[in-house]
Amino acid sequence: MNLSLPASSEEIIEHLKNPKVIVASVALLAFIGIIRKWRKAKQFSIVLLGESRSAEKLYSKAYGVDINRFLNTAGSAFLAFQVGADESNITDILQKEFPSSAGTYLLLCGVNQLRGNNEVAKLMVEKAKSVEPASPWLQISPTVNELNKVFPPMVLEEVVKNSVWKATEESFNNLFLFRLKDGNLAIVNAINYSETLIAQIKSMGKVSHIISNTKFHYKYIERSREVFPDALVYGVPSHKTHPPSKNMHFSGYLDDKNPILKDDFTFIEMKGHDLTEFLVYHNSTKSIVIGDFGLCCVPNYANKIYAATFGIFPSSEPELKQMNYHLLQVKSLPALQSSLRTLFSIDVDRILPIHGGSVHSDCKGQLQRAFGWPLKLGTIDLLFLVVRSFMEKPGLLSAIMQAGKKKQ
Ligand SMILES: [Fe+2]
Repeated sequence: MNLSLPASSEEIIEHLKNPKVIVASVALLAFIGIIRKWRKAKQFSIVLLGESRSAEKLYSKAYGVDINRFLNTAGSAFLAFQVGADESNITDILQKEFPSSAGTYLLLCGVNQLRGNNEVAKLMVEKAKSVEPASPWLQISPTVNELNKVFPPMVLEEVVKNSVWKATEESFNNLFLFRLKDGNLAIVNAINYSETLIAQIKSMGKVSHIISNTKFHYKYIERSREVFPDALVYGVPSHKTHPPSKNMHFSGYLDDKNPILKDDFTFIEMKGHDLTEFLVYHNSTKSIVIGDFGLCCVPNYANKIYAATFGIFPSSEPELKQMNYHLLQVKSLPALQSSLRTLFSIDVDRILPIHGGSVHSDCKGQLQRAFGWPLKLGTIDLLFLVVRSFMEKPGLLSAIMQAGKKKQ
């Protein structure tokens, strides 16, 4: 037996210098790394952002369906519906896969409400109650008034004395009004103003600024100009290119290098995300307005189809959440992570979501629970989660291709 270690070591070193061995070793290490990353990605819920797969199991048990499969199926079917597929497509898919889930019928109720088929929507609620009379899904049933589209009057409600007010449109969209240091008013997120609301706002002073802080909110920009012709109207950079808003006239676009209203607000851009949303932080009241980047889930909101389709479960307490399709909207993870670190570093006393109720306690914890998930990921992790989304959301690719064709 040759125990001549130096000779053996030399042989080993020579052997390791062999290019084939080097390539094989690197490939093996890369393979092990990829397997580890894939296993990590498998532990992350792609339907309940921020939750683990084991938490998914608890939801599955409570809701009586495989929640990953249900939300992936419902989410991609709903996406296809939004880009033009017939609602019978969703009906077929859900009824075929989950015929005895109250969730199926409540989602179909939502789809029919969106299409204005109110009678069918009512039948769907009844069906949900009959298939699963004690299901937690029933928390997302619309109330009788919501089914009949009877909503509370759209009037201003004071949120912070003499500083911040809110008005709500059909339990869904919130407008926020801020008193500026110069005495004028700023509106964040215009809604479909009622005459009463216009009169109320006008009685309080001059509206000098109207801000739309997120990509998909532009619908009432033109009306805002008519109602408040002297106000400057600001959008976000993606309004310049998003087809429905690209020809609208904005006085300017929010830009963190050239901030507007510096004495009153700090605008935090959610960089690296498709919405190009700016969270609007009101310095003196420590209130932050969040648009489509997150929403607040309380039972009076959760009847909305978006909530149940995209992984937002109702809660008795106001709870900030992010819909699961945001996973696919990340364009630069490092940029988004940097914006989130800025967000988590500020002091927040209240969260004012454009959709849903306001949060008045544990605001920092709520922000971290809702938006902390990108900080737990690396770029390769994210890539794997996107791959998983395409693998696990049936019809997602064709829905995206349909949406692309529709844009052209
Ligand atoms: Fe929205």
